[in-house]
Amino acid sequence: KNPMEKNGLTSLEESRNQRVGDKTREMHANNGAPVVDDEANITAGQRGPTLLQDHWLLEKNAHFNREVIPERRMHAKGSGAFGTFTVTNDITKYTQAKIFSEVGKQTEMFARFSTVAGERGAADAERDIRGFALKFYTEEGNWDLAGNNTPVFFHRDPKHFIDLNRAVKRDPRTNMRSANTNWDFWTSLPEALHQVTVVMSDRGVPSSYRFMHGSSSHAYSLINAEGERVWVKFYHRSQQGIQNLTDQEAEMVIAQDRESHQRDLYNAIEQGEYPKWKMYIQVMTEEEAKNLDYNPFDLTKAWYKEDFPLIEVGEFELNRNPDNYHADVEQAAFTPANLVPGIGLSPDRMLQARVFAYGDAARYRLGVNHYQIPVNYPRGVQNFHTNHRDGAMRVDGNGGSENSVATNSYGNWTDRRDLKESMLEGGDIGYHDFREDDSDYYTQPGKLFRRMTKEQQLVLFENTARNMGDSTLQIKHRHINNCYQADPEYGKGVADALGIDINSVDLTPTPRNSRKANEEANARGFED
Ligand code: HEM
Repeated sequence: KNPMEKNGLTSLEESRNQRVGDKTREMHANNGAPVVDDEANITAGQRGPTLLQDHWLLEKNAHFNREVIPERRMHAKGSGAFGTFTVTNDITKYTQAKIFSEVGKQTEMFARFSTVAGERGAADAERDIRGFALKFYTEEGNWDLAGNNTPVFFHRDPKHFIDLNRAVKRDPRTNMRSANTNWDFWTSLPEALHQVTVVMSDRGVPSSYRFMHGSSSHAYSLINAEGERVWVKFYHRSQQGIQNLTDQEAEMVIAQDRESHQRDLYNAIEQGEYPKWKMYIQVMTEEEAKNLDYNPFDLTKAWYKEDFPLIEVGEFELNRNPDNYHADVEQAAFTPANLVPGIGLSPDRMLQARVFAYGDAARYRLGVNHYQIPVNYPRGVQNFHTNHRDGAMRVDGNGGSENSVATNSYGNWTDRRDLKESMLEGGDIGYHDFREDDSDYYTQPGKLFRRMTKEQQLVLFENTARNMGDSTLQIKHRHINNCYQADPEYGKGVADALGIDINSVDLTPTPRNSRKANEEANARGFED
């Protein structure tokens, strides 16, 4: 069966050409004047050269040459839609955020889903994690929750992020993706095993964005009206259910349709089949966090649902396709720094790096005034009163004649110190190595493995073996050992799928500092 059929594809052409409406059909140049001739050039005689004074030819060319903006460094290929968030359960005892102030309250939102490694033109149905970015236009400002479809991540130290992306993207010489580079990196970080297990599992290729769950992955904080803080993780559960593609199905889809996720989401919304997700939180008190036997701010770890059950919060549906992809989806800019009163950060080291990275990326990709672009504009705030001035492409009147000096005699530019969060405990400043505190890389991937059915485990072994491709024997051994440490059956299954005798693999537990261990192994001259 062609797996594309289940997505109910229809022609995108149907709605085209119906959108001119009452607008004039006359073409105008940038100055608003009619274009005189969009075909013939101004030339010196019937067979002579084009004259520079054919300014429409110049304008048309010049604009075209500048149409492409930088793509996102990762998560470049994506799909977006507008929607509505509705509160279904009262969580005001945890947060004063206005978006959650009463059951039934609705807030406009925008969502962008993405693959991570592929460039802007990449195929959708690839084995990869999926970005799950939400922007809520609340009355107290935009709240962005840019998460993924998985609850954990490949690493927990932000400095690894740059290397992760180099590892999964293209080789500098061949310009091709390299299984060897990719798996060399993943297997060298034993803490990556949890995320690697998810990506290699049957959930590693969602059939489309509608059929996957989402997660904040990080811990954030919620702060109530009394100023009390709890730590939370957010989960979004697809009401369409989970559907995945096998590697073979994904190959068939990609051969016929590189835009399978985009097509599915777009068509579903056009047909009125609005996809929905229920939002939940897990709540952990500050006291519980202190006494936990794993670091709750370690992004490679999930919080056990048995200990921290899911609490329903609300539901969102996506019900409007953007009229223009570039305007709304390509120009959308999410950042974990877009917080609102009642929702805060956590000590997760990755999250703190992200607080810098996204605004910086948006200023590069879209410009310093990117927040004025309609999809990013805090449209829920009644009297948006920014103190920023000037900058390229300022289009909102720039504050007019208003004095922009924050300390003045006129009571303008007040801040809201009543919203200060209660103090976080500090600590000794210095380089703190996660591995010295926690080198248990394997308990959670082991539990995840044992939760799988025998069939799912088999799929995991085969996906892993296929994906490791032409990685060196050393890297394969390292991965078998990592899997073995999580569960001997996991190690054995992957070894079998790779055609490697597990008895030939060194199965001593990975030392704390795996980089050092690798160097030592390499110095010993491991035979390939
Ligand atoms: C996109 C940095 C970890 C989810 C991006 C972008 C950057 C970035 C620079 C492109 C932004 C743009 O051009 O607008 C980082 C850094 C990380 C990190 C430095 C770790 C230190 C994560 C994690 C998640 C995540 C852990 C999920 C929990 C996303 C999503 C997008 C994205 C969903 C796409 C947003 C969109 O749709 O526009 N990241 N990232 N990232 N990242 Fe991260």
